[in-house]
Amino acid sequence: MKVLILGADGYLGWPTCLYFSQRDHEVIGVDNYFRRNAAIELDCESLIPAANLHQRSKIWEEITGRKIKVHIGDVTNYEFLLSIFREYNPDAVIHYAEQPSAPYSMINRDKAAFTLQNNLISTLNIVYAVKEANPECHIIKIGTMGEYGTPNIDIEEGWLEIEHKGRKDKFLFPRQTGSLYHTTKIQDTDMLWFYVRTWGITVTDLMQGPVYGLSTDECDLDPRLMPFFHYDEIFGTVLNRFVVQAVAGYPLTVYGKGNQTRGFLNLKDTMQCVYLSATQPAERGQLRIFNQLTELFSVNQLANKVKQIGDKLGYNVKVEQIENPRVEKEEHYYNIAYSGLLDLGLKPHYLTDEILESFFAIADNYKNCINRNAFLKGIKWK
Ligand SMILES: NC(=O)c1ccc[n+]([C@@H]2O[C@H](COP(=O)([O-])OP(=O)(O)OC[C@H]3O[C@@H](n4cnc5c(N)ncnc54)[C@H](O)[C@@H]3O)[C@@H](O)[C@H]2O)c1
Repeated sequence: MKVLILGADGYLGWPTCLYFSQRDHEVIGVDNYFRRNAAIELDCESLIPAANLHQRSKIWEEITGRKIKVHIGDVTNYEFLLSIFREYNPDAVIHYAEQPSAPYSMINRDKAAFTLQNNLISTLNIVYAVKEANPECHIIKIGTMGEYGTPNIDIEEGWLEIEHKGRKDKFLFPRQTGSLYHTTKIQDTDMLWFYVRTWGITVTDLMQGPVYGLSTDECDLDPRLMPFFHYDEIFGTVLNRFVVQAVAGYPLTVYGKGNQTRGFLNLKDTMQCVYLSATQPAERGQLRIFNQLTELFSVNQLANKVKQIGDKLGYNVKVEQIENPRVEKEEHYYNIAYSGLLDLGLKPHYLTDEILESFFAIADNYKNCINRNAFLKGIKWK
């Protein structure tokens, strides 16, 4: 397959480039370095320094003999994106190129406006480029489990059949989320569904939970191939943040009561899910939705696991419940259907003690680079 990966420099995009390349697919990676620049602007850079995308793909080529083609540019620039589609005519496009942080979208009006513009226009441009260059190209869009919010009913896999006053119909599962960033993801899904119905494009929308970890078979080949490791309040996902806080001797920052429950997955499983979706595509003219997670944890359960392993390794981990900067339910019902990707062949890597210990070992290697000011930036929803 020829696979176009948008957001190729990112936490998920870079390992995805390697994963497809290692399996003999032709990979074209695009990024505009938004994430790197935003992290410098907000003083919350990756714990592990990462060479730029050109240099990383050269390192990959030196090690494996495989090439990843790199283009630096903005997906919201339609002429640029269309020229990439025309040059390569990809079979699949994987869309990671968005502003991915809820706190970032809540900093101020400008960051909110950027998030709206960046996320919605990038998705719109991809739809148009596919229609213009190759309507058969399969769009794989990374959505988020956060789109559903925490409803007091079971969360189905994308769709809900409703019977109302004796008549039945099937709709997108109701979405009610907790940040402007997540709202743009809902709007993306609505937009894709509109163009699937109207133009018959083919889309897989992956409702992904928070990802943790840094290890994949390909990234493990050389430390220079490691993905970004963000552990800050803005770009760091919760488990990545807790592990670095534990190593730094900083109390784990649990927001509010800590009973907020979410569906998590290992970075290795993100690779599998995206790969399975690409190699077993949606049907032509279908919007296929999968819930992408492998196990549920509350924030307290994660903090306790990190404390238990950290204490065993001699870190003397403290856990602190701080005032919740977000507006979210701290106690709620959460029951999710997520069988679709398992049916396609996903073999989950669960969060074992060994996995957490190896994660501690990586963070410990970079202990001297930890920026303690990055753990809390004071971004509040209200
Ligand atoms: N990491 C997670 O836990 C997680 C969970 C659920 C959903 N997601 C989604 O997965 C996707 C990737 O997330 P990530 O954690 O890898 O984030 P990331 O910020 O590390 O990666 C996104 C990449 O896209 C690039 N980008 C952003 N806007 C762009 C544009 N207009 N043109 C070109 N490049 C652009 C950024 O520079 C960055 O390198 C996002 O859409 C995010 O919403 C991530």
